[in-house]
Amino acid sequence: MPSRFFITGTDTNVGKTVVSALLCAALDAMYWKPIQTGTDAVTDSETVMRLAKLSPARVVPEAYRFGPPVSPHLAAGWAGVQINLAAIRIPSIGPQENLIAEGAGGALVPINGKQLMTDLMRRLKLPVLLVTRTTLGTINHTLLSIAALRDARLKLRGVIMVGEPNRDNREAIERYGAISVIGTVPKLAKLNRETLRRVFAHHFDRKALEA
Ligand SMILES: Nc1ncnc2c1ncn2[C@@H]1O[C@H](COP(=O)(O)OP(=O)(O)OP(=O)(O)O)[C@@H](O)[C@H]1O
Ligand SMILES: [Mg+2]
Repeated sequence: MPSRFFITGTDTNVGKTVVSALLCAALDAMYWKPIQTGTDAVTDSETVMRLAKLSPARVVPEAYRFGPPVSPHLAAGWAGVQINLAAIRIPSIGPQENLIAEGAGGALVPINGKQLMTDLMRRLKLPVLLVTRTTLGTINHTLLSIAALRDARLKLRGVIMVGEPNRDNREAIERYGAISVIGTVPKLAKLNRETLRRVFAHHFDRKALEA
């Protein structure tokens, strides 16, 4: 069984793309950003390609792309488009291929007039990894996100914490969230395939990522 995950986060800019690149590099996975806003700047697909040294063939094209760096429901509305969940399907890739799909923003980001990012996760049926910060405020944001994911009856596989290690916050998230922190990513001066693979080898529970 291949390892396939949906990467969400407690917020935008929390480190989902860096974690996605790390997992693509470590698991030799393909990458997919189903809904990308902010295409006027560098896209997450381009960043993952650069960081994980993925060939373009290992990156699945986005289902929806919008220029402005705002919530998908808003960017789509401005473009006169309605994001249609039925049009977003798990890409037809080899059955043994590992896959990392990255959401936009956090779990309850709206994608159209009625649906949220959690509805996309349910449609794709991928186990979820939640990326969180290590800093003050993360316990509340992480527990709220866990509650939203469980409320949507999603399979949350684990939490990945990004930033300077904070043991107290990690323990609180594991205890009150009844969840395992399956990886930590320290602040890295250099982000590249080698540094990301090293972090995976030293700071991730490989078993938790097996299908
Ligand atoms: N471990 C790290 N060490 C150093 N910089 C990091 C680390 N993790 C993330 N960053 C930096 O923090 C910023 C935000 O990270 P990233 O783009 O991965 O967030 P994101 O959650 O994917 O954001 P978005 O919601 O826009 O998709 C980027 O500039 C990234 O390079
Ligand atoms: Mg991102």
